[in-house]
Amino acid sequence: MEENKGQPANSWLGHRGAAAFDFRSDTMTTPTQDMLSAIQNTTLLDDVFKEDPTTMDLEAHVASLTGKEAALFVLSGTMGNQIALRSLLTQPPHGVLADHRAHIIRYESGGVASLSGAMTTTVIPSNGFYLTLEDIKSLVVLSDDDHSCPTRVISLENSLDGLIMPLDEVKRISDFARENGVWMHCDGARLWEVVASGAGSLLDFCQYFDTVSLCFSKGLGAPIGSIIVGTKPLIKHARWVRKSIGGGLRQSGVVTAAARVAVDVTFGKGPNGEGGLLRDTHAKAKRVEQLWKNLGGKMRVPVQTNMCWLDLESMDCNPSRFARLGSQVGLKLAGNRLITHYQIGEEAIQRLTSVFEKVAAERGRNKCEEDCDLSRQGPY
Ligand SMILES: Cc1ncc(COP(=O)(O)O)c(C=O)c1O
Repeated sequence: MEENKGQPANSWLGHRGAAAFDFRSDTMTTPTQDMLSAIQNTTLLDDVFKEDPTTMDLEAHVASLTGKEAALFVLSGTMGNQIALRSLLTQPPHGVLADHRAHIIRYESGGVASLSGAMTTTVIPSNGFYLTLEDIKSLVVLSDDDHSCPTRVISLENSLDGLIMPLDEVKRISDFARENGVWMHCDGARLWEVVASGAGSLLDFCQYFDTVSLCFSKGLGAPIGSIIVGTKPLIKHARWVRKSIGGGLRQSGVVTAAARVAVDVTFGKGPNGEGGLLRDTHAKAKRVEQLWKNLGGKMRVPVQTNMCWLDLESMDCNPSRFARLGSQVGLKLAGNRLITHYQIGEEAIQRLTSVFEKVAAERGRNKCEEDCDLSRQGPY
């Protein structure tokens, strides 16, 4: 199939937009008709002058949803994490401790080093899923010995690769950090998904962090934007850092109007994402997992939110072959990760089923025939 007829690249029609057959990432979700209307009706005042009501309302709303004093809209998840870390860290020597798979470690262009001059310490979770307090205690640096680089921030990512860090573990780590004067940051790009899964509310999770960054453009469908929440002094400082890297925005209502629809409609108005669209995407991910297992495939990890990690080798397949089979039926696939965002509809699931069936039919025949280099592909 050469193209998906009816899915023009400029479509604003939600489920029929460009992302409807794209399983590569929930960053592919495209803005909806509701967002277009919100953009048309937005206020157009200057946010560097702190005059734009749409932007200030969004910031106040997300601060209140997360139980924080203040919030700051930023252009991307990377910008949110980096500004938050830069605002927490003051004077070297200072270190940031994070999971070895964390976005801030692997996929933010070394910003922790270049923007904050911090040393990073990476930790491998001993349970294979999420960091525990014991994992952290084995590598955290609390000493004031001048040979060492003290850990000033523990940065947790939730969800991480679609996996949930449970609330009780977050609490244990946070209690330990606070007892020892260490800041807590959360890369909550997909914290909405954790909440929609029923693992706890935004308030439950955010109480354990000093700063949290959340994204509107992953899974929620906004074209641009993320937000940082924290105390008033921290957010005041973050605003300074944002300006210094060119992130001060003028008529920001054009983007914050869409972000507000992303929160109210895609995440949903209830405190746990009730009435939103995310729970349905989790059910779809479970369905994809079941379809794969029914054909004899194994999973790398069980589905917890909106991400499916297939074990392609268990079906003698590899990422290149899988992507090629997908493109033959008009699907965009990358590696062994599938994300079921809200624009993925029934037709896309049907086509994916046909790809799974082809993989199953070929099992044992095409072992490692094609290049399966995944090194250049990351979970963005
Ligand atoms: C967990 C996580 N944090 C942060 C980011 C960075 O977001 P952005 O691409 O908007 O900079 C991503 C990107 O996908 C992510 O997956």
